[in-house]
Amino acid sequence: MTQRTLVLLKPDTVRRGLVGEILGRFEAKGLTIVAMELRHIDAAMSDQHYAEHVERDFYPDLRTFVTSGPLVSLVLEGDDAIEVVRVINGATDGRKAAPGTIRGDYSLSNRENLVHGSDSTESAAREIALWFPQLAL
Ligand code: CMP
Repeated sequence: MTQRTLVLLKPDTVRRGLVGEILGRFEAKGLTIVAMELRHIDAAMSDQHYAEHVERDFYPDLRTFVTSGPLVSLVLEGDDAIEVVRVINGATDGRKAAPGTIRGDYSLSNRENLVHGSDSTESAAREIALWFPQLAL
């Protein structure tokens, strides 16, 4: 089924010059970019995006990280795009992610893990509406 998913190329991706490499992986897979923006978010936007994590002990450091510099937000579309992006991204912890995945190849961290992808159809709808309200159905 054709789906849309919200992807973030987090500040570590921009700082390390990996935007082209990572975008290329999604494009080579066959996913279509339907919206994209370079953006430096504030704490309030982080709190909204990570609403389900704001009470977690790791959240203050996560918020500091995601607001530390510009990131790239985008919406990708394709068959089963939500799951396909999560497979391409790899496990959350870069130290445990499989080689061949983005995190497995480029991240050695549980926090600075380069990418975010929506984890369900409900999350995708919420996150797309938050980041790209003009696309909300
Ligand atoms: P993401 O897929 O964006 O979803 C939540 C983010 O929180 C995750 O990627 C990591 O960047 C971060 N994260 C999740 N678990 C931990 C943890 N145990 N310690 C630090 N950061 C974490």
